[in-house]
Amino acid sequence: MPNHSETESVPLLRLSNVTKTFGSLRAVDNVSLDLEVGSVTCIVGPSGSGKSTLLRTVNMMDSLTGGAIFLNGQMIGHEVRKGYRVPVSSRVARRQIRNFGMVFQHFNLFPNFTALENVALGPSLVYNESNQKSQTAAREYLQQVGLESRANHYPSELSGGQQQRVAIARALATEPVNLFGSLAELRR
Ligand SMILES: Nc1ncnc2c1ncn2[C@@H]1O[C@H](COP(=O)(O)OP(=O)(O)OP(=O)(O)O)[C@@H](O)[C@H]1O
Ligand SMILES: [Mg+2]
Repeated sequence: MPNHSETESVPLLRLSNVTKTFGSLRAVDNVSLDLEVGSVTCIVGPSGSGKSTLLRTVNMMDSLTGGAIFLNGQMIGHEVRKGYRVPVSSRVARRQIRNFGMVFQHFNLFPNFTALENVALGPSLVYNESNQKSQTAAREYLQQVGLESRANHYPSELSGGQQQRVAIARALATEPVNLFGSLAELRR
């Protein structure tokens, strides 16, 4: 398994022959691509062609059937031990996952939590932040997506687009863009 961490210039994210099967269905079939820092990439394809599954393998919501994923040159999700590829421990996986933010296709907001609580929940779980601190940050992210006036509304009281913006604020709130701090931590 190549490890790119020693080379001068490595892509931010490298997918190498990523495959995911569900029984006999090849949902993702041997996909390889490199993403560079600051680039925006769109994945386009017919319904059922594997776009969401590909993203789910990147943020470790689905296990890989084959291939490997590298973040800044370091393999994530798996490591090689005694010549065998094994999944990383759940502690390491949790740390690696922090580098990704995802807005879900159906938003997946918690219906019994307000917009503010939905956004604050991630940081308070991931970083053990106090309720007060995560709610203050959540308010700022809601403001960024133009929803500060809806902070205390439940998802059922929001329009589809507003729910989507809450989901975007939630994806930002765990600060996946704070990549280099996280990567330094990752390599320790
Ligand atoms: N957990 C699962 N178990 C079995 N099959 C699955 C599972 N998740 C997805 N699939 C199948 O994998 C294929 C790819 O699904 P995926 O959700 O990645 O498609 P998509 O490209 O995101 O589609 P859409 O544009 O409709 O959102 C589909 O045929 C789907 O039925
Ligand atoms: Mg999809």
